[in-house]
Amino acid sequence: MQDLTHDDWLKVVEQTRSAYAANEVDIGTEYYHMPQSSFYPSFFAWDSGFNAVAMMHVDPARAKRELETLFRHVAVDGHMPHEVLIPCAATRARPVRNFMRWLVQWEYDSCGASHMIDPPIYVYSARLVYEMTQDADWLAGIWPDLCRLLDYLLDKRDLFGDGLVSIVHPWEAGTDLSPQFLPALGIDPGRRTDVLQATIYAALLYRFCNRLGWDTEELRKANKFVLEDLTINCIAIRALSSAAAMASVLGDDAAASRYRSRALRMSAALDQVAWDESAGCYFPRWDTTGPRTTKVKTAASLMPLFTGRCPPGRADRLVKEHALNNNEFWSEHLFPFNPADELVGNRPWVEKKLWAGHCIWINFNWMIAIGMGENGYLAEARELTARTVRMIVEQGFWEYYDSRTGEGRRMRGFTWPGLALDMMYRFWPEITR
Ligand code: GLC
Repeated sequence: MQDLTHDDWLKVVEQTRSAYAANEVDIGTEYYHMPQSSFYPSFFAWDSGFNAVAMMHVDPARAKRELETLFRHVAVDGHMPHEVLIPCAATRARPVRNFMRWLVQWEYDSCGASHMIDPPIYVYSARLVYEMTQDADWLAGIWPDLCRLLDYLLDKRDLFGDGLVSIVHPWEAGTDLSPQFLPALGIDPGRRTDVLQATIYAALLYRFCNRLGWDTEELRKANKFVLEDLTINCIAIRALSSAAAMASVLGDDAAASRYRSRALRMSAALDQVAWDESAGCYFPRWDTTGPRTTKVKTAASLMPLFTGRCPPGRADRLVKEHALNNNEFWSEHLFPFNPADELVGNRPWVEKKLWAGHCIWINFNWMIAIGMGENGYLAEARELTARTVRMIVEQGFWEYYDSRTGEGRRMRGFTWPGLALDMMYRFWPEITR
């Protein structure tokens, strides 16, 4: 593969500017970017976390504003809503999206804020934006809400009592129809139809989450879908370490030591319950009454690389046996969410479902590249970055890309590919100047 050049950097800067301009919302105190204006015309929390990271390379002041909006959305109970419907922006939605919203109306409270959480990547984004801008006053402004959302995760979402965060609906992981959730939902991907699967997600919302008033203790008892998801936990560990570092900047020693020790506890629990010695990777655990793990491998199985705390022997196995394995993840187009060996024999409908088929999601490319780089695989992180950038420059910004061909899929003009800027900044710094 040819080296990246300054021209590649400039092209992605330009693509980012134009995709972000098309998705920008600036109404009163609300400043953020929709993931994609015609299909996702709302504020989405983890999307805004990614947007801030991309935006800080183009316009750090806007990145700060996006995070200010985000942390203002922390709910009274401390949860960060995965999505907030902003009425003025919502009118731009496609009818199909409005219909889907109606189908899952129980997700939202009367003000349009989702009862669901999502992976707290925004805490790490806040740290990155602070490091780039060195604006401690800004950090002090977002700090109380940032702590509230972390405390909610620690206090209200530890449903197995082991220090890890549990999700109560697959959408809370951000990886909607990941095959890792199907066994916990009682779905056999080989036999059922996609229609049934869509119904199960809405039914779970209505019959359990909504009827039980989103009370996490009640949901734990009902035990319909309670899962220690890898994506959310690995991002939460990074969030806690980031919060500890930011607390030190602000001179809040008590918070620094609390978050540091919770990060340690969480990573120890992850290593204890989710590591599978024979598979050489991590699996999510579910079922509070008889805990078991889902033996399905996805890129989330490698996410402990991103925690900053993966034991070196395990990190080596994750990278050598899986990430760099040509029969699994390391194919021509990188980085597939589902490895080739897990997709054999799947029904064609799987390809139409988000996160279920041959798909490359740029947020995972970003996190896996960081994880590889930090665990000693710098050349591989550079290679992953180069192939990601080539794909984006050639195809443009898309919601995801087909891992067989590298072609853009579903929504054009989606914001996440802007993360390629941060990948270049870290792994190809020489081309950014
Ligand atoms: C899809 C993704 C989810 C994202 C949302 C908005 O549902 O799976 O992670 O937050 O779109 O972009």
